[in-house]
Amino acid sequence: MTFDRSIKIAPSILAADFANFGAECAAVEAQGADWIHVDVMDGHFVPNITFGPATCAAIRPHIKGVMDVHLMIAPVDPYIQAFADAGADVLTAHVEAGPHIHRTLQAIRGAGMKAGVALNPGTPAAAVEEVIGMVDLICVMTVNPGFGGQKFIDMTSKIKALRTMIGDRSVHIEIDGGVDPTTAPLVAKAGADVLVAGSAVFRGGSVDNPGPYGENIRSIRAAAEGVWT
Ligand code: DX5
Ligand code: ZN
Repeated sequence: MTFDRSIKIAPSILAADFANFGAECAAVEAQGADWIHVDVMDGHFVPNITFGPATCAAIRPHIKGVMDVHLMIAPVDPYIQAFADAGADVLTAHVEAGPHIHRTLQAIRGAGMKAGVALNPGTPAAAVEEVIGMVDLICVMTVNPGFGGQKFIDMTSKIKALRTMIGDRSVHIEIDGGVDPTTAPLVAKAGADVLVAGSAVFRGGSVDNPGPYGENIRSIRAAAEGVWT
């Protein structure tokens, strides 16, 4: 993975057909997705359950590019090696998931992955200040995690504060929740480069009719890149 600040669209397979993840990942990649965002939920840290490392391992051969795994689980540390073995490129843990985010981020990098830290809407930018030198990605949640299809919560001032905090470091700012062509320009302008989108990518299409996936990805990208022109 080489670092750059270009806009990257990361479809969340939370909005895909759960019986067909391999084909769904291949379809959105063929339609222009940059990363694939994989939401792991435990029914404890968040009020919903999805899947774990075995499913990630099954999906991995169907993804050519970056597998971006977002852990909404607590605890995190006992499962880090399992997600490394499953082939995660980026592994993101929530700062709210436990008292030892520093140890968790060390362990993620120690297992050979890029380390991400996620912040819930109620958590300030300052919560990651002391770990800024040990992360590759900061995920700003623009919904309360647990479900797709929720209404976007404006976190513009937090994104700007993080962008300033990051300075020249090679750290991505990822936005997760309610991203669509209307909200993408706000977050791109504030300094985000990785845009996760579930419902706004998968709506209207299917593996048998993947064209809408491409149209959706292109509209989000054009809206985000439009802030620079
Ligand atoms: C929410 C997840 C998101 C979610 C985004 O807990 O982390 O990745 O799938 O879905 P949309 O784009 O539909 O808000
Ligand atoms: Zn997510």
